[in-house]
Amino acid sequence: MDAKTRLERAIGPLPKHTSDIMLAEDRWQVPTYSKFPVAIVRGEGSFVWDAEGKKYLDLYGGHAVALPGHCHPRVVAAIQAQAERLLFYSNVVANDVRAVVVKALADLAPAGLRRVFLCNSGTEANETALKIARKFTHRMRIVSLVDGFHGRTLGALGATGLPKYRDPAYPVPVQHDYVPYGDLEATAKAMGPDTAAVILEPIPSMGGIRVAPRAYFEGLRALTQERGALLVFDEVQTGFGRTGTPFCGEHFGVTPDLITGAKGTGGGVPAGVVFVREDVAATMKLGDQGTTFGGGPLACAAIAANVRTIVDDDLPGNAARVGDRWRAALAAVPGVVGVAGLGLMVGVNLDRPAKAIVTSLLAHGFITGTCEALPNQIRLLPPLVLTDAQAASFTTGLASVLAS
Ligand SMILES: Cc1ncc(COP(=O)(O)O)c(C=O)c1O
Repeated sequence: MDAKTRLERAIGPLPKHTSDIMLAEDRWQVPTYSKFPVAIVRGEGSFVWDAEGKKYLDLYGGHAVALPGHCHPRVVAAIQAQAERLLFYSNVVANDVRAVVVKALADLAPAGLRRVFLCNSGTEANETALKIARKFTHRMRIVSLVDGFHGRTLGALGATGLPKYRDPAYPVPVQHDYVPYGDLEATAKAMGPDTAAVILEPIPSMGGIRVAPRAYFEGLRALTQERGALLVFDEVQTGFGRTGTPFCGEHFGVTPDLITGAKGTGGGVPAGVVFVREDVAATMKLGDQGTTFGGGPLACAAIAANVRTIVDDDLPGNAARVGDRWRAALAAVPGVVGVAGLGLMVGVNLDRPAKAIVTSLLAHGFITGTCEALPNQIRLLPPLVLTDAQAASFTTGLASVLAS
């Protein structure tokens, strides 16, 4: 019996057509999401299928999530097996799968950041990191980026400089000072005696993919150390191998004090993590932070299988190799004026607005993304199992869409 039939036996009949699926979602969901006009119902590796059976190369990776590819067999097997053992128990008890995961994550982390706090999402990971920074430094203010994005809950939203996301809830509770990405001088000016942390995405995504020079990261490290503030890298998008190394700071020889992760952490299952410097973690006391679902056995089974796949299959290496060749090929496409990024985090800058191109690409079977901050940029965040042939098929597809 196939998975869909087994699922329908458990939960009842599923709507069959895209129009019915979208109608139901539009009718019952709070209308906060702008959606592609497709209903994705199945995935495997770098591909997904819609309700009508049309196949797409998923260069958006289910929103930068599907690092080992959709429905990686090892992740699926781990979830299935754990679902039959124990779906959930909170952190009031120890658990064998959690014990495996925390060690695996600590082993993946940069040296010195071998303490982890497990949570459920990127916004929660960032809230936790900022809370830890405030507690450790006994300071209240946070320096973050004008073009940064860190999540939608009120604390993380404070660190989010992009007005489209922040303004519906402005003013936000945490006190922030916003500076442009790559501007060390502005960062130094914004930092005062009450600055607890500087938080940034090492490569912004929602704010437009760009990579600052190594000197910026070295400068941030020196500046925060000098001023007694913590450096937080939000690696919700860049972490777990996306940029060609397990964590992005490694490209620049810089280790922050805290790293936050989510999206790809659970290989498709909701999971977030904060990697914490060991002496900073030592200052956290019982009850200082908590979450019911963070580190639940089902999520931990998925994280463990995902991390094992990332390491055993050298997904960061594949991201680096395929990404380098792909970015060079994309740069040669007429209509492309530049290609930014590292590994398989790719921003393709066009000579025209990206939105209509992304719509055409969807009709041609490619799921890609845009961002508000750089309207001419196509954002590509594919699974890290992407092959050269799959990447090349997109390069050809983009060339033909841009030429038509
Ligand atoms: C860099 C970054 N940080 C944080 C978040 C928030 O993550 P979540 O949606 O899991 O709360 C996102 C989501 O897009 C993100 O891109």
